Amino acid sequence: MFATLPLFPEQASTVASQVDALFYFLIGVSSVFAVLIATLVVYFAVRYRRRSAADRPEAIHGSLTLELAWTLIPFALTMVMFFWGARVFVTLRRPPDNALQVFVVGKQWMWKLQHLEGRREINQLHVPVGRAVKMTMTSEDVIHSFFVPAFRVKQDVLPGRYTTLWFEATKTGTYHLFCAEYCGTEHSAMIGQIIVMEPSEYQTWLSGGPVTASLASAGETLFTDLGCISCHRSDSGARGPQLVGLFGKRVQLQGGATLVVDENYLRESILDPQAKIVAGFQPIMPTFKGLVTEEQLMQLIAYIKSLAAAPDQQIAAPAADTQG
Ligand code: CUA
Repeated sequence: MFATLPLFPEQASTVASQVDALFYFLIGVSSVFAVLIATLVVYFAVRYRRRSAADRPEAIHGSLTLELAWTLIPFALTMVMFFWGARVFVTLRRPPDNALQVFVVGKQWMWKLQHLEGRREINQLHVPVGRAVKMTMTSEDVIHSFFVPAFRVKQDVLPGRYTTLWFEATKTGTYHLFCAEYCGTEHSAMIGQIIVMEPSEYQTWLSGGPVTASLASAGETLFTDLGCISCHRSDSGARGPQLVGLFGKRVQLQGGATLVVDENYLRESILDPQAKIVAGFQPIMPTFKGLVTEEQLMQLIAYIKSLAAAPDQQIAAPAADTQG
């Protein structure tokens, strides 16, 4: 109904119309009540104005019907808003399992993006049309916010942890990417483009450009270079937890708590290894804080995730390491 009005950005994702429908409903309800209340204020002011010094209007002792009406109608309306809003929220929070993966690092004042397959971009993101894309995001400095108006998605990008966002573009074209959290002098210049392409064009684009290793294989190289492999290998003498098949699994920690291994837990375990020790292991891992960049962290995590997808993989002990 409002699609032709230039008040709203165009709708270019699967959730855009759902978000807009909810928004129109909220605007509609608010407008009806605003007009109703304003009209009644004026009407009552005139109707019940003081007419003489000895004005004695009859006292009102209440009306059950009226009280029920002004309780139940707003209650019903707010419940509709709550459940409708929750449904849209859950849709926005749950990326489909087959989503393409893109990793985002925000910094003052640019967006650095990398595809799982390896290709990197700055302030530009190429994605295929009709395919869900999941962004895993963090910041190198302050809080930023990844905002694509045409897709109706916005998510804060925080230093020190990962947040995610997903969308599925429905139309090819170029769309605005904004930073929606004030982040310093050039906040307003922290902008970019989302370029939505036909899937075949996207494949061509993805395989073009400089040859870069996939995120997981870059992670594997780092895993060896940093020496992670000497403790986290797949034999019985390993001093660190087994990483093959770990991602997405529930693990037990010292003290009895359990948690499901996700990106944020892996991140914490690399930067602050003493924070949550898996039951049965010693707190001997050194921190890698300051030794790995945000990009390298994402590579390591992509590698560990890739180990979950192939349960028959083994992490072999390096030849030089003879300790048990
Ligand atoms: Cu980054 Cu505002």
